[in-house]
Amino acid sequence: MDDRVAVITGAGSGIGESAARLLAEKGLDVALVGRRRERLDAVVDAITGSGGRAFAVPADLGQARAPSEVVDAVLEARGRLDVIVNNAATYRLKPIAEFTLDDFDDVMATNLRAPYFLVQAALPALRASPAPVVVNVSSAAAVMYRPQQTVYGLAKAALEHMTMNMAAELAPDRIRVACVRPGPVLTEFHLAAEDPEERVRVLGALVPLGRIGQPEDIARWIWHLVDVEADWVTGIVISVDGGRVLGPPGV
Ligand SMILES: NC(=O)c1ccc[n+]([C@@H]2O[C@H](COP(=O)([O-])OP(=O)(O)OC[C@H]3O[C@@H](n4cnc5c(N)ncnc54)[C@H](OP(=O)(O)O)[C@@H]3O)[C@@H](O)[C@H]2O)c1
Repeated sequence: MDDRVAVITGAGSGIGESAARLLAEKGLDVALVGRRRERLDAVVDAITGSGGRAFAVPADLGQARAPSEVVDAVLEARGRLDVIVNNAATYRLKPIAEFTLDDFDDVMATNLRAPYFLVQAALPALRASPAPVVVNVSSAAAVMYRPQQTVYGLAKAALEHMTMNMAAELAPDRIRVACVRPGPVLTEFHLAAEDPEERVRVLGALVPLGRIGQPEDIARWIWHLVDVEADWVTGIVISVDGGRVLGPPGV
């Protein structure tokens, strides 16, 4: 069994929750980060109830000091930190004319600044790990250009850029850095739509492989990158999107 300690942000729901459950099944001890304590506790209970190891580290990653506080909390609790899954993100999809300075700063702080400073704060621990890995969760929005997604897409494109640069700089320390780029996945965001069934149908129709993704579709690839079997893989972005970035099916 894999006995590493993994920090997973946004682990109280959706893709992060699914990744936390899967990594715990593989034997990792998972630190679940998010703002809603009750959601984190529910996932911790589910994991520990089935024999896994997990603990909650509630934090608002939009706050400047949160990344270093999260790392400190994990090191205090477990004394090591081997894996970071930078999955938390905020959407804030709005027309350009309505996007405020606070919206801009919040998207950048949560989706880009926090992943950067989580890695920075964890560097000594990652350097000490036998198999250190960082997996960033991007979005098809990094490479597809849609209304209302300017800043979200910008942050995701920058996250992919960060993946490559960090992979290059940290390779001498054997720290692998990789990225998963999901297409549309059925999570709270889409379920909150006015007509969720219609939304699932419309999004599924945009995907060449004919369906919207499930959180487990993405979690599996997060695990593949974390797995020590991938120990010669770094600096990559994997689209896990049913072909979404190819454009809609048909001619
Ligand atoms: N679903 C899709 O269609 C899709 C497509 C492409 C990419 N993605 C990416 O997949 C990742 C996971 O999203 P999801 O779809 O699983 O949506 P989700 O269920 O809304 O997950 C987002 C998570 O991030 C956490 N979070 C948000 N702001 C935070 C903050 N300031 N501090 C700490 N935690 C914060 C949320 O928890 P709290 O609210 O409790 O803090 C939540 O658990 C994101 O990076 C997203 O951009 C999703």
